[in-house]
Amino acid sequence: MIVASALNQFFTTLAYNQLLIDLSRKVGMDLGGSHFVGGEKTADMIKQVKKLNSNGIGATIDCLGEFVKTEEDTKKYVDNCFRAIYSIRDEQLNAQISLKLFSVGLEVSRDTAIQNMNEILTEAKKYDVSVTINMEEYKNCEDIISVFETLREKHENVGIALQANLFRTETDVERLDRFSPAIRFVKGAYIESRDVDINNKTRVDENYKKLVKKHLLKGNYTQVATHDNDMIDFVRDLVKEHQIPKEQFEFQMLQGMREEKQKALAEEGWNMVVYVPFGKDWYTYFMKRLAERPANIGFTVMSMARR
Ligand code: FDA
Repeated sequence: MIVASALNQFFTTLAYNQLLIDLSRKVGMDLGGSHFVGGEKTADMIKQVKKLNSNGIGATIDCLGEFVKTEEDTKKYVDNCFRAIYSIRDEQLNAQISLKLFSVGLEVSRDTAIQNMNEILTEAKKYDVSVTINMEEYKNCEDIISVFETLREKHENVGIALQANLFRTETDVERLDRFSPAIRFVKGAYIESRDVDINNKTRVDENYKKLVKKHLLKGNYTQVATHDNDMIDFVRDLVKEHQIPKEQFEFQMLQGMREEKQKALAEEGWNMVVYVPFGKDWYTYFMKRLAERPANIGFTVMSMARR
């Protein structure tokens, strides 16, 4: 536990080290990361999504965008998202979009983020593409949920990720119920303080199951984003017991994690979607994955050795 927490701290520090970020932009993905990232360029991402699609697996494309500090940065980011949406249209990809509100300018201002999201959601809607807003650290949770509420009043094709490790999430789900929203349930990737974080694996798992069950039984679209067999088996049993149609939910996993399981779930006939991050900010995303699960270092070493 102490070792895991120290490794988490170590990789989180590396994720934001400016020297390494600059180096990663110069050297590219030869530094590692290709196991978990769809690539730096749109063409790499398209190739990766096509590979998944050929195995009956959908994708949610995360247009990576870190360090978005100015209006100009946000415009560049919106253009990247448009490029991803047009790739889905032109290449007929089975894919959706995922993004962070900070990438569209939440740090610049709430209005900037909303304006940019309105543009992205309107363009995405034309091609039947849905967009999921990622959830970030607890300190930003309220802002993200409140912007989501504003957007969801106008756009049906926007969904949100909520974290089962937080005490507040059950109330957040109730608060959002009026929209019958699509929710992606995750366990939560950030280490938070004990007054807000359930901070116990068994209880987080119980909360995850409880949230997913309630959402599914209300008839809402549910994205079951986990690599955990226990959660997956729970959902499979639940939907059979309550005859919930498979069109009402999907399993989701991150690129590079449990690829055999991804294929097996798709072959069983379930909707399986893989989260494919791409863009020049791959390094910070990659370090965060190592921080979250140090066992991922093994995958990285193996994939680099195979080059
Ligand atoms: P957890 O880490 O609890 O692992 C449970 C068990 O699953 C392990 O003991 C092992 O048995 C099995 N397992 C897990 N990984 C494995 C592997 N690679 N190989 C083999 N077995 C494995 N977080 C967040 O805070 N905000 C967000 O917006 C998102 N978005 C997001 C999207 C998607 C599509 C996914 C899949 C995840 C996220 N996350 C996230 C991350 C999420 O919060 C969480 O940190 C990770 O998914 C890890 O939690 P798990 O539920 O996978 O299981």
